[in-house]
Amino acid sequence: MFIVSVCSLKGGVGKTSVTLGLASAALHQGVNALVIDLDPQGDSTLGLLGEPASTVDIAEVLSSPRTETIDRAIIPTPWSKDAASHLDIIPGTSRSAVMDSPALN
Ligand SMILES: Nc1ncnc2c1ncn2[C@@H]1O[C@H](COP(=O)(O)OP(=O)(O)OP(=O)(O)O)[C@@H](O)[C@H]1O
Ligand SMILES: [Mg+2]
Repeated sequence: MFIVSVCSLKGGVGKTSVTLGLASAALHQGVNALVIDLDPQGDSTLGLLGEPASTVDIAEVLSSPRTETIDRAIIPTPWSKDAASHLDIIPGTSRSAVMDSPALN
């Protein structure tokens, strides 16, 4: 399993575009993929779902990182409808901004 992290402190450099491009490439190659959206803006979530998520989000996973929470947070995206492979997402929401702190607790 490959784990790819797309991150930069600089805005507008193509993080979301690269993420969605990699997800699309995986889908077209028949490779199962999971996008974990850590961006409080949730742009990848909006791109993949077409609307903000109303389910368990990444903030809940980060604050309660149990298998059961993670399982509930993973949802299929419409992109993989009728496709041979899965393209799933753990949605990002503005709630994850509260985790964006150097505090250890
Ligand atoms: N390879 C590219 N060539 C030209 N334009 C690009 C490329 N990748 C992204 N862009 C454009 O650059 C802009 C910013 O891209 P994107 O939203 O992916 O960046 P981002 O890093 O996710 O931004 P933010 O920090 O706001 O989340 C968009 O208008 C996008 O269409
Ligand atoms: Mg972005």
